[in-house]
Amino acid sequence: MKKTIRDFDLQGKKVLIRVDFNVPLDKDLNVTDDNRIRASLPTIRYALDHGAQVVLMSHLGRPEGKPVSSMSLSPAANRLSELLGKPVIQCSDCVGPRVKEELSRLNGKTQVALLENLRFSPAEEKNDASFAKQLAENGDIYINDAFGSSHRAHASIEAITKYLPAGAGFLLEKEIQYLGDAMQNPKKPFVAVLGGSKVSDKIGVVENLISKVDKILIGGAMAYTFLKVQGIGIGASKYEKDRLDLAKTVLDRAKEKKVEILLPVDHVCVQRADERAPIKIEGPAIPEGWLGVDIGPKTIALFSKTLETAKTVVWNGPMGIFEMNPFSKGSHEIALTLSRLQGAATVIGGGDTAACVIGFGLDNRMTHISTGGGASLEYLEGKPLPGVAALQDK
Ligand code: 3PG
Repeated sequence: MKKTIRDFDLQGKKVLIRVDFNVPLDKDLNVTDDNRIRASLPTIRYALDHGAQVVLMSHLGRPEGKPVSSMSLSPAANRLSELLGKPVIQCSDCVGPRVKEELSRLNGKTQVALLENLRFSPAEEKNDASFAKQLAENGDIYINDAFGSSHRAHASIEAITKYLPAGAGFLLEKEIQYLGDAMQNPKKPFVAVLGGSKVSDKIGVVENLISKVDKILIGGAMAYTFLKVQGIGIGASKYEKDRLDLAKTVLDRAKEKKVEILLPVDHVCVQRADERAPIKIEGPAIPEGWLGVDIGPKTIALFSKTLETAKTVVWNGPMGIFEMNPFSKGSHEIALTLSRLQGAATVIGGGDTAACVIGFGLDNRMTHISTGGGASLEYLEGKPLPGVAALQDK
């Protein structure tokens, strides 16, 4: 058990909270999805309510170790300020005398500070000890609430824990609790739904899940690699030639472990991936010259029926090109089925799957939607997350 923010006396202390404000921005630099910012509010509010001064830090994008003005955290600071109803002071940098001076002027009762993008320094991604030490000088206690970045052994995530008492924030705690429960104590039947474009992205997850789940439903473009290796025609659909062997190994292992893998039995097909292109439903094989862009109605029925009896569901990866409206039905129907399950734990991986469920307005109907894309994948692969491992034990 790791320490959490509840285990520290925060009164009069500067609490340095690593958040994940790596949020999408539009061309005018407005935050287009503020879920990660909203998800950090309980920890920030708790620290403020317990008499702490709050200093936040995050990365945004991949500026490759140098300041890039379009990757400043200012838009996130503005959005946080609106959500919190308090001024959020955007610091000019994340370490150094100027930052110290800016923080010395912080009125911790009425304001919150946000350091500038950690990745403007190359030392962050190098997990550099002296940079971590400098970051640590901005606080008395370190709290990691950046689940989405906790698979990165970076200075603000790992090295910093050597210099300050370190615990988890509420978001990190909640993510580990829900993802952990699903992986370690799943109520049975346990069904995994995997999708997205690449087998290679999900192979670690499949390998780890095979010894835990009862069934795996596979949709999205990764399904075409699995169909192809079984000799089923996939027309012009995207597949990974160099992963055919891997797909075969997975199918064999599943058979050995008596885990049923269900693949699409029909598909929404088009001649080009364009939302105006005429569609036809074909299956199980896809004709030459056509490509699959979503699961078809029979597959929706098959997957939904399988999910109806599940008591634990982990879903990672959309069923089709959900960003294009005509090809989003498969993902939508799966989300609807999950939203109707009674007494089942429904855990949604981050990234695209989270965006898709939130876009359908079904986020409140799921047990948990992860804020971590890469982090939730690594967790589901069974890999220890450096950001969690580095925190103090209770
Ligand atoms: C994410 O969006 O997955 C996290 O913020 C991590 O970002 P990264 O992949 O650039 O490290």
